Amino acid sequence: MFVFSKNKTHMRNTISGFSKFSKSEKIEWLLNTYFSDKDSARTLVQRYWNTDEKLQKLHDEFIENTITNYYLPLGVAPNFLINDTFYTIPMAIEESSVVAAASKASKFWLNRGGFKAEVLSTEKIGQVHFIYKGDFEKLQSFFAHVKPKLISETASITKNMERRGGGILDIELRDKTSDLPNYYQLHATFETLDAMGANFINSCLEQFASTFKNEAQSFENFTTEEKNISIVMSILSNYVPQCLVRAEVSCKVEDLKSKDIPNPEEFAQKFKQAVQIAEVETYRAVTHNKGIMNGIDAVVLATGNDFRAVEAGVHAYASKDGKYSSLTHCSVENGIFKFWIEIPLALGTVGGLTSLHPLVKFSLEMLQKPTAKDLMKIVAVAGLAQNFAALKSLTTTGIQEGHMKMHLMNILNQFEATETEKVKLIEHFKKNVVTHSAVVEAIERIRK
Ligand code: HMG
Repeated sequence: MFVFSKNKTHMRNTISGFSKFSKSEKIEWLLNTYFSDKDSARTLVQRYWNTDEKLQKLHDEFIENTITNYYLPLGVAPNFLINDTFYTIPMAIEESSVVAAASKASKFWLNRGGFKAEVLSTEKIGQVHFIYKGDFEKLQSFFAHVKPKLISETASITKNMERRGGGILDIELRDKTSDLPNYYQLHATFETLDAMGANFINSCLEQFASTFKNEAQSFENFTTEEKNISIVMSILSNYVPQCLVRAEVSCKVEDLKSKDIPNPEEFAQKFKQAVQIAEVETYRAVTHNKGIMNGIDAVVLATGNDFRAVEAGVHAYASKDGKYSSLTHCSVENGIFKFWIEIPLALGTVGGLTSLHPLVKFSLEMLQKPTAKDLMKIVAVAGLAQNFAALKSLTTTGIQEGHMKMHLMNILNQFEATETEKVKLIEHFKKNVVTHSAVVEAIERIRK
């Protein structure tokens, strides 16, 4: 039984109890509410269901109110040499030319020493935000008194993590009253090893908050008002500037010479200038970093990690010096071209989707079952490779030549080109520049 109201004046379609409907009831409500051709909309939704019912149910249960699947292509970029190990990197992304660009960059560096990557630190952060009205020195002495209990009362949560070598690293009391009156934090650091650690950290924080509030009530030195600490919230931070990875490529400037780089010295200088521009100019930095995230997000998604967390943390890091800037850097010194990235990445290779999504398991197996540290290196390299390919195109041919070459198939599909038309047009555009209008004209010409 559907309960919904349709207010035509405001074009509002609201419903109560939707979450309790079955999947087919949800779909029927959507079709009746929003679609003029219900049968085609229903057919479309159902066409994306997996024929394996068990597999479909698994996907349905990842989120809430699932009606169907939303495909992204899973591509692979081969030939990555990272710290002397070869990888083929899985990439889940919808944008044409990203996988080709990563593949081209990996191939370019294959014979120039490959990529070097190193994890600089692996510390995660969580905070209990609270309001305390009273004397700071008393709060400090209360914190010193309660700190061992904050740790001991999380013992059941931290037991397994500690057995593996991780756990709570430290808890600090932070005075934030210069930013907001009466605002303090318990700022905690964690080592979560191969887990991204969100659930572990949040469980610890909620326990800290409960212990902290309870113990304050019986702390003798506090006045009644001081005892009444108000916990605002307890949550991990996706800003992880101490969970850092660095990846790098370098070679002699003269060794940059290739089919596309006839003058390596000029290329190296121009490439460096392009990076410097992204270091100083925010408008450019955002697009530059977007190109890096093309590679990073694609691998993060393929390996079942949280790309929103990664995006938020990486962009905050790009602003760490007070101005949004490039995530990559370049030097050309003493005849050596060096290009590197340093980014914070909180990733997991156990827990979450990593043990649930069959294609995530497939991707992790392709990456030779990496630890979280290995995955940090692989993801950073994918970002660096992507940026290298984009900057190489931008500073030589321009981006459109390669990008549009890869995008050609999308335009042909948009115009429902037949297989014969595709063969003819792909051949034609091997010798002609691809632009949207040039493709449209060429289609019209062969259809006449
Ligand atoms: P090309 O020189 O025409 O490629 O480059 P090629 O046909 O000579 O092939 C060379 C290699 O490239 C291949 O080696 C592949 O590794 C790869 P092979 O496999 O033959 O041994 N490659 C491909 N891989 C898979 N499928 C393909 C394919 N074609 C080539 N179809 C290419 C063409 C697009 C690679 C080059 O022009 C390029 O790297 N362009 C950069 C494209 C790019 O950055 N795209 C990202 C989207 S644009 C964007 O959003 C970001 C941006 O705004 C960021 C910024 O501003 O910084 C640009």
